[in-house]
Amino acid sequence: MDGQAQLLLVLLVASATWPFSVGSLARVADDLHPVVLLPGYGCSHLDARLTDEFEPASAAPSCGGALNGKTGWFRLWNNRTALQEDPALVPCYAELLRLVYDPVAGDYRNVPGVETRVVSFGTTRGFGSDDPGSKTGCMGKLVETLEGVGYREGKNLFGAPYDFRYAPAPPGQASSEFSCFLSSLRVLVEKASKRNGNMPVILVTHSLGGLNANAFLSRSPLAWRRRYVKHFVMVSTGAGGSVFRLRFGSSSSSSPTDPLSFANTTRSFATAFSVLPSPKVFGHAPVVVTRAKNYSAYNIPEYLRANGFSDGEVARYVTRVLPVSLNFSAPAVPMTCINGIGVPTPEKLVYWDGDFGAKPDQVVYGDGDGAINIASMLALDALIGADPEQDYFKSLLIHNTSHVGVISDSFALERLVNEVLEANRAIV
Ligand SMILES: *[C@@H]1O[C@H](CO)[C@@H](O)[C@H](O)[C@H]1NC(C)=O
Ligand SMILES: *[C@@H]1O[C@H](CO)[C@@H](O)[C@H](O)[C@H]1NC(C)=O
Ligand SMILES: *[C@@H]1O[C@H](CO)[C@@H](O)[C@H](O)[C@H]1NC(C)=O
Ligand SMILES: *[C@@H]1O[C@H](CO)[C@@H](O)[C@H](O)[C@H]1NC(C)=O
Ligand SMILES: *[C@@H]1O[C@H](CO)[C@@H](O)[C@H](O)[C@H]1NC(C)=O
Repeated sequence: MDGQAQLLLVLLVASATWPFSVGSLARVADDLHPVVLLPGYGCSHLDARLTDEFEPASAAPSCGGALNGKTGWFRLWNNRTALQEDPALVPCYAELLRLVYDPVAGDYRNVPGVETRVVSFGTTRGFGSDDPGSKTGCMGKLVETLEGVGYREGKNLFGAPYDFRYAPAPPGQASSEFSCFLSSLRVLVEKASKRNGNMPVILVTHSLGGLNANAFLSRSPLAWRRRYVKHFVMVSTGAGGSVFRLRFGSSSSSSPTDPLSFANTTRSFATAFSVLPSPKVFGHAPVVVTRAKNYSAYNIPEYLRANGFSDGEVARYVTRVLPVSLNFSAPAVPMTCINGIGVPTPEKLVYWDGDFGAKPDQVVYGDGDGAINIASMLALDALIGADPEQDYFKSLLIHNTSHVGVISDSFALERLVNEVLEANRAIV
């Protein structure tokens, strides 16, 4: 019997005594606190519509005639079926998905002539895609497991998909799409509470969803948070970004299913720099090594320049992104952080000749969940747990579990859902 099979057996035996036996479940099912889910990067569906302003030649040259006569809303992200049927759409859709920065508005927006909207806000039905693989990475199994303990879509289970291209901006700077998302989320949380006897909600997030939820909470009045948020379960999110996000990739790859392969497109997103290693957490340790020079988290502006980002883009990292990541702090509502560890995670990228568009010559691995470094997870204790504003804080590290495994491996899912049930039972 190999290790995995043994582990499975242990789990099967353990599950016989798992706390949610049918009897106790039926009892809690009536008065479960509503759950609102925020999925990770790339999980929300986006529809697009072309307006009269749309000029393929300038807005999206690679679309050619592919969009001739296209009226009304269509699925821009993620429509694997369309891209598989017609690979010529890949560069076209990638261009439609691009963001531009409008210096007059001081904000990001779609390319001229393209309107977008998030699909199925309020529900969990819009997560994932027609790609079964990304269903797993986008809370599909978590939704099933929550339904297994009595949660019901639209009754006490809600979803807050968001346009993952946009990020929060510091106070005083425009971020209109993100601000709209915060307003919608506020309304959704209040509605979820109202539908459930005014009980406060439990927020459960994965990956980038956790950063958004934390920004949401830190921008909501404390009295509102205490009234409407019972617990915040933040899954697969560190306090200081990850080294792996320093791989901006080659701008020539174009696999339709991998969001990161739309390299020029993802480089244009406001979120392109959101989870870069934070100097607060990674300090002066070299995270990128070349023959001529080492880069630490403090040298990211230089590193971005060496990766071909413009002065404007580098300035936005410094003035828009960094202040938000450095401000990552306690949400001041009861919180459980859950992360996987024990999976080799890039800790240092070696590009000996400084050719950052190529594959790294060497990747030095450390502990983490495959994406997030352990340093970023441990920093949660210092940045949130140790904050006097934070009354209840718990950090769970699940061994041998990857970034996505935390919301898809049955062992980890049971731990996660158990935390949701624990939060339901908590008196305060
Ligand atoms: C995906 O694209 C195909 C082909 O263009 C279209 O028939 C289908 O309706 C799209 N899927 C969704 C969910 O809109
Ligand atoms: C940082 O957070 C504090 C408290 O939540 C807030 O008042 C301040 O405006 C934030 N600053 C930035 C740059 O986000
Ligand atoms: C990405 O942008 C670079 C620089 O502007 C350009 O040379 C390259 O062709 C673009 N790649 C794609 C796939 O559009
Ligand atoms: C870069 O850091 C490594 C340790 O990771 C060190 O051995 C090397 O001397 C440094 N190189 C330069 C150019 O500073
Ligand atoms: C993690 O996996 C390794 C290799 O499969 C195994 O040796 C180890 O016991 C596992 N650790 C835990 C805590 O499950």
